[in-house]
Amino acid sequence: ESIPLEMHKVRIVQKLALPPVERRLAAITEAGNNTFLLRNSDVFMDMLTDSGVNAMSDQQQAAMLVADDSYAGSATYTRLESKLQEIFGTPYFLPAHQGRACENILSQVLVSKGSVVPMNYHFTTTKAHITLNGGTVEELVADTGLEVVSVHPFKGNMDTGKLRDVIGLHGADKIAFVRMEAGTNLIGGQPFSLQNLVDIRKICDEHGLLLVLDASLLADNLHFIKQREADCRALGIREITRRIADQCDIIYFSARKLGCARGGGICIRSEELYRRMRGLVPLYEGFLTYGGMSVREMEALTVGLEETMDEEVINQGPQFIAYMVDELQKRDIPVITPAGGLGCHVNAMKFVDHIPQAEYPAGALASALYIAGGIRGMERGTLSEQREPDGREIFANMELVRLAMPRRVFTLSQVKYAIDRLEWLYANRRLIGGLAFTEEPEILRFFYGRLKPV
Ligand code: F0G
Repeated sequence: ESIPLEMHKVRIVQKLALPPVERRLAAITEAGNNTFLLRNSDVFMDMLTDSGVNAMSDQQQAAMLVADDSYAGSATYTRLESKLQEIFGTPYFLPAHQGRACENILSQVLVSKGSVVPMNYHFTTTKAHITLNGGTVEELVADTGLEVVSVHPFKGNMDTGKLRDVIGLHGADKIAFVRMEAGTNLIGGQPFSLQNLVDIRKICDEHGLLLVLDASLLADNLHFIKQREADCRALGIREITRRIADQCDIIYFSARKLGCARGGGICIRSEELYRRMRGLVPLYEGFLTYGGMSVREMEALTVGLEETMDEEVINQGPQFIAYMVDELQKRDIPVITPAGGLGCHVNAMKFVDHIPQAEYPAGALASALYIAGGIRGMERGTLSEQREPDGREIFANMELVRLAMPRRVFTLSQVKYAIDRLEWLYANRRLIGGLAFTEEPEILRFFYGRLKPV
């Protein structure tokens, strides 16, 4: 077996509790069978997300102590801005409190009624902001991206033929921008290749379209390009990063995933676009030199971005995920392959194939896994979709339980524990029943909707 090796040691720890199964059953019932509504004190392994919960380095902690606190023009902000300019080569930066705040600004400025936004795959908050501003999303991931079990190295690639078709169908003037998401969140943390991005850029140039990168999961994607793309094997992470950035007009990110802190921001190439977006930052986020982030977060982010340029830092998440995926496959437990970034994705459509999609199989499996092991995953299936304007339910392409692997947080024995609990649950899967809403919010319902067993 290939054992992932921690290239760090643990020097600050947080005590965990593993509540007894009776308490776990009560807790998930109190939470309306929605893992988002559990209290962390009831959770043993929190695999809900990799957002804002990655381990920080000693260097990040140290930088937080020397942060320059001021409302306007702090040296901390200048350090962050310079680091982004250095890494991406983009001259302009707008800070924001997190990724979805960037999406709000981008969508308000670039999307209007009738706009179309082609993308490799949507993310929940991205789509919500685009539709809120009257636009629609066209998902153009190559067909291989939707094959759960595959050996394709770049399942996040956009299909260039589909992009040409969409441009032909709607006309370039209807297209607000083309969006590429690094490490496609909702289909298993799957990367795109640098070559694919270059191909998409060419098509954008032919039609005068903006190319926007969602870089929230860039760290994983960089690792996979280095490992899986033959032409990039000899390149350093810094060089791959610059080649990616060179293709893009705008790069936005959630710093909760990229750089191990809080916050986010938008890196922009054109001054004109920068000026159009700038006004919204003081309105929604805060002054231009903090955008809702604290100076301590900005310092940690600056160091985190630099650490992201180190392959031995960014390979940790993907290596632990690959270990978990391999071990689950050995036990015939259905998972997304190849292993991606972000986390291990269990295929609920197959795991609980007795639960129809209308009864949210992935939500049901996430609840059951919490009861079985105190492990909190996240539903990434139909529950995470939004209904059509006429109220019709949209069944997700995939029904997944995402077991996120916060970077450098869990030890291998904890990961083995999660594998063991999944093995038990798989053997007893017929115990799991479907769910129905008792309370269904209109927007982003998965966050705080409540459900009951059917
Ligand atoms: N884009 C991607 C690809 C993301 O994964 C996220 C967040 C966002 C944008 C929004 O950023 O949370 O800082 O506002 N993903 C988190 C997750 C929530 O758990 O997958 P945010």
